[in-house]
Amino acid sequence: MNSHSIERHPGIYWIETYGCQMNKYDSELLGGILESCGYLPAASADEADVIIVNTCAVRKHAEDRATGQINKLAGWKKQRSGRRLGVVGCMAKNQGEGLLKAHPFLDFIIGPDQYKLLPEILSGNSGKPAVVVDFNHTENYNALKPARTGNPSGWVAITRGCNNFCSYCIVPYTRGRERSRPADEILREIEQMVEQGFKEITLLGQNVNSYHDQSIDFPELLRQCARVQGVWQIRYMTSHPKDLSPRLLDVMCSEETIAPHIHLPAQAGSDRILKLMNRKYTRKHYLNLIAEARRRMPSIALSTDIMVGFPTETEEEFLETCSLLEEVRFDDAYLYHFSPRPGTPAAELDGQIPEAVRLERLDRLITLQRQISAEKKLTWIGSTVEVLPETESRHSPKEWIGRTPRNQTVVFPKERTLAGEPVFIYLDELSGATLRGHVAIEDRRIQIKRRQQCGSLN
Ligand code: SAM
Ligand code: SF4
Ligand code: F3S
Repeated sequence: MNSHSIERHPGIYWIETYGCQMNKYDSELLGGILESCGYLPAASADEADVIIVNTCAVRKHAEDRATGQINKLAGWKKQRSGRRLGVVGCMAKNQGEGLLKAHPFLDFIIGPDQYKLLPEILSGNSGKPAVVVDFNHTENYNALKPARTGNPSGWVAITRGCNNFCSYCIVPYTRGRERSRPADEILREIEQMVEQGFKEITLLGQNVNSYHDQSIDFPELLRQCARVQGVWQIRYMTSHPKDLSPRLLDVMCSEETIAPHIHLPAQAGSDRILKLMNRKYTRKHYLNLIAEARRRMPSIALSTDIMVGFPTETEEEFLETCSLLEEVRFDDAYLYHFSPRPGTPAAELDGQIPEAVRLERLDRLITLQRQISAEKKLTWIGSTVEVLPETESRHSPKEWIGRTPRNQTVVFPKERTLAGEPVFIYLDELSGATLRGHVAIEDRRIQIKRRQQCGSLN
């Protein structure tokens, strides 16, 4: 469609998104809210009338990146009169009015619970910037139609907010108290996505395990989502180790459409640090969960988040985190160094670790995990795996990038395959950190049972 061929519309919008999947989902919600009022998506920032920067506040670096971009967009705004620029998301909530003082050219600042006000704010002509960042602890954006872009993989929020108050984390202060969306709303959204051609659906929440809607808890919701007609694959993130139940593992074992992958942030390997972080589990509990998951699903993929340089962390305690990585041998890990977030208890603790030490520990951990990830990937060379082709490779228009049910990224020549059509790929080599392969089975009439336990067809 040529967006400009439609004569009367209130404007053309462009959204830039920073942060986690929840923010990406929220950008789709914002797009849906605007499109339901007649706004049209822009093909590029240049042609937009409205630009929304959806921000993250989890680490200082995330805020710095968004701030840099906001300053750059001041130039975009000046190029044409009538253009509007706003900031939404976690940094908008975190800084509120302060953002306006620092960037007086902004037209609106909206927190994560107030997105439904966006059309009203845009249609107002008071000439004054709007700052709306109050919490609304019951807002869960039901009955909206997100403007989804990620076909064949999409997200559905099942909870919003977080009640855990890990001592380092800003999220409970930016997204407010946890609330669960009604199960029937979630199932309806998944059915719509299947109709739109989505193959893979990821259920999102800061701690999906605490989902509840009357008698429906997370394992039951996951089972119902997995059984929606036409769903190819269901994923979920994030699981908090204090709440992951054996019933969840049972559901994963019994439903073929649930991806054999658990993202289980450990954060640290030392019990003293875990306690200071207010994580409410011990290293032993964490390792028992991993053992239990592997006992039921021997080749389950495991990934984690780790933070080094938490206040007072000693070299020995850092080495306990290294040993946790060596013991578990995660397929993948997201590794961070502690970033003090003003207003969180950890930022006030005595014993802050100098940045140089934090960075040096992070470097050592990255080297260790790269080695483990590479060794684990190498064991898959010579296997045939199912892959969902998602996007064209940035390096070659003749290649797809896709992911396996175990969440391994695979690059392969397109041959006669289509984006969004799962294919079987023979894995030939590990090139850098990338698994590369070629189409193994072209005759899709061959029905091969996908097995959680092995993932490989060899
Ligand atoms: N809800 C998820 C959980 O419980 O693990 C994670 C949410 S958080 C958005 C993603 C990751 O960012 C966390 O797992 C943590 O490792 C990291 N993170 C959070 N606060 C941080 C901080 N102040 N400094 C560095 N990393 C942080
Ligand atoms: Fe942050 Fe902890 Fe909540 Fe995750 S569970 S969002 S780390 S407070
Ligand atoms: Fe996500 Fe960043 Fe907010 S990680 S929840 S966008 S602080």
